[in-house]
Amino acid sequence: MLKIWTSAILGLAIAGCGRNTAEPVHGPEPTATINEIMKTMIVPLNNAASYLPEAITDPETPAGLAGASQVDADWQKIHDAALAISEMPNLFTMEGRKVAAPGVKLENEGQPTYLTAVQMGDRIRVDRAGFLKHAKQMQDASLALAAAATAKNVDALYDAAGKLEESCSSCHAAFWYPPPAP
Ligand code: HEC
Repeated sequence: MLKIWTSAILGLAIAGCGRNTAEPVHGPEPTATINEIMKTMIVPLNNAASYLPEAITDPETPAGLAGASQVDADWQKIHDAALAISEMPNLFTMEGRKVAAPGVKLENEGQPTYLTAVQMGDRIRVDRAGFLKHAKQMQDASLALAAAATAKNVDALYDAAGKLEESCSSCHAAFWYPPPAP
């Protein structure tokens, strides 16, 4: 009797295991739109990463004025924001990510050369390689910015911050407000 029960329980346990492994595995799924990621994550991070405190950028400003530990903390903030930005392209280029929710009014919507969210979505699908190229530029620039902050190198910081800014505007110019076809 005991034997029967044991094998019955064993059988149930095995069946249970089988059922668990058969359950669908949920991979990452996009929730926010590109428009939302830009506004709620990228803009605040970009502000934090591009805010260059005077004590850092002006060598004449004595670190003593801000306090050396404050200067260190500022470099760290720039590094952390830049590192977070480097993950953003991984997010907003995810397959299935929508440009904007239906009914959301885009900045400058309706002005000449500005595409609608649907048109942008089509353009991103058609020229996915181009979109990814701009996204990679953003990632590279943000990593360079993080490295400049770690190295506390003001020249490299300016250079990387400029490239980051350029990655925003070049992608927007290509996918958001491209020049009209000749
Ligand atoms: C690889 C392409 C790409 C890069 C790089 C990029 N963006 Fe965007 N951005 C988009 C697309 C596509 C939209 C959707 C258009 C929209 O929301 O109007 C968008 C929208 C936005 C919006 C919302 C505008 C609105 O309509 O409300 C802001 C703000 C923005 N981006 C800021 C930035 C900043 C700042 C950076 C750089 C740090 C950046 N973006 C880099 C593609 C990009």
